[in-house]
Amino acid sequence: MGISRMDSQSFPLNDGVEARKVAIGCIRRIDESASYANLVVASALQKSNLEQRDRNLVAEMVYGATRMQRALDWAVDRFLMKPPPAVLRASLRIGAYQLLYTRIPPHAAVSTTVEASSKKNKGVVNAVLRRVAESLPIEWPNEGIRLSYPDWIYELVRLEHGEDEGLAMLEHMNDSPVVTEREDGYIQDLSSQWVVQSIGAQQEELVLDLCAAPGGKATAMASEGAFVVAADLHMSRSRLIAENIERLQVDTVWQVTTDGTQPCFAEKAFDKVLVDAPCSGIGVLHRRADARWRIRQEDIARLANLQMSLLRAAKNLVRAGGELIYSVCTTTKAETLSVASEFTKTVDGALPVPVEDPIWRRNGEGGLILPQDHGTDGMCIFKWRIE
Ligand SMILES: C[S@@+](CC[C@H](N)C(=O)[O-])C[C@H]1O[C@@H](n2cnc3c(N)ncnc32)[C@H](O)[C@@H]1O
Repeated sequence: MGISRMDSQSFPLNDGVEARKVAIGCIRRIDESASYANLVVASALQKSNLEQRDRNLVAEMVYGATRMQRALDWAVDRFLMKPPPAVLRASLRIGAYQLLYTRIPPHAAVSTTVEASSKKNKGVVNAVLRRVAESLPIEWPNEGIRLSYPDWIYELVRLEHGEDEGLAMLEHMNDSPVVTEREDGYIQDLSSQWVVQSIGAQQEELVLDLCAAPGGKATAMASEGAFVVAADLHMSRSRLIAENIERLQVDTVWQVTTDGTQPCFAEKAFDKVLVDAPCSGIGVLHRRADARWRIRQEDIARLANLQMSLLRAAKNLVRAGGELIYSVCTTTKAETLSVASEFTKTVDGALPVPVEDPIWRRNGEGGLILPQDHGTDGMCIFKWRIE
């Protein structure tokens, strides 16, 4: 598994004790207060005086240990009599992450992590990490533990995409995500840029992005010359749209806060409406290290209902001859094929428009990108012409 970009040449070894301390503190906070990994890391780094390479090391260790926590816990629990308290768990995860997934020499990984651990835990951290180091390469009891996903995600992905594609997708989402920047400086994954390309907003077309925050696709469509209304339910997230409009200096995006299931717009007012819906995010698990441990299987049915309500409401806002576009950064059948085919079946006057671009795999009438296809997020898109 090519998990880490971290190696002994580019990262500090024995002088990285402070970075390990910060990383252990982050893991503890994520575990104990169910905080978001990215917020915990950002706040810890802001308070620290670490150099840039140590900051990178902290981020890599915390995100990596969070993603791989099921595998790491299995690897260390073999050498413990009972589940460890949170503070010891955090040290062991950070230590084992370095041993299993980086090229940091084992002696450096163990000694810096022991040094960074609390006085009380130094002995056990040292003993357990040495045993883990001696046990490499690990013989995993099963693939779900090796790949470090909850069983339900592991099984659903393999069931829906097949053994080979499913495993490739799960492996891929254990790598750190690639960061791509648009010409205007906005950070946006290529798969999202391909959604925008597939919408093909024309000069002076009036386009509604019904679920628009933080405004990535809305600002991209505006830069193609469209007039864009960028709506979102949540006030706090709508502020992100306003900030991005300001920062990118686009003057053809208007931000509106409204519930997309009961939108405040006139019927047939738009040439195109995009529903870039809230979803389970199964295609972006590499991007949010803690997401796989947060989503619950039962959320999927609730999200599929919401997606259908958004699509139905959005359809009424498209002018005759205009287009409705549905996209989600997930790959579950319930939120993609099933939503799209039920919509086509039950809603009058919406004709599927096939997605022909070879970047996309065929997925019914729509398109699908699995993360391993182009090294991007996983993404789905469907389009309809409205009569
Ligand atoms: C996938 S994100 C949108 C990403 C955005 N289109 C972009 O490209 O930057 C989904 C958004 O849907 C919003 N949302 C959730 N429920 C909604 C609703 N009922 N109406 C409108 N927006 C909603 C969330 O606040 C979230 O910002």
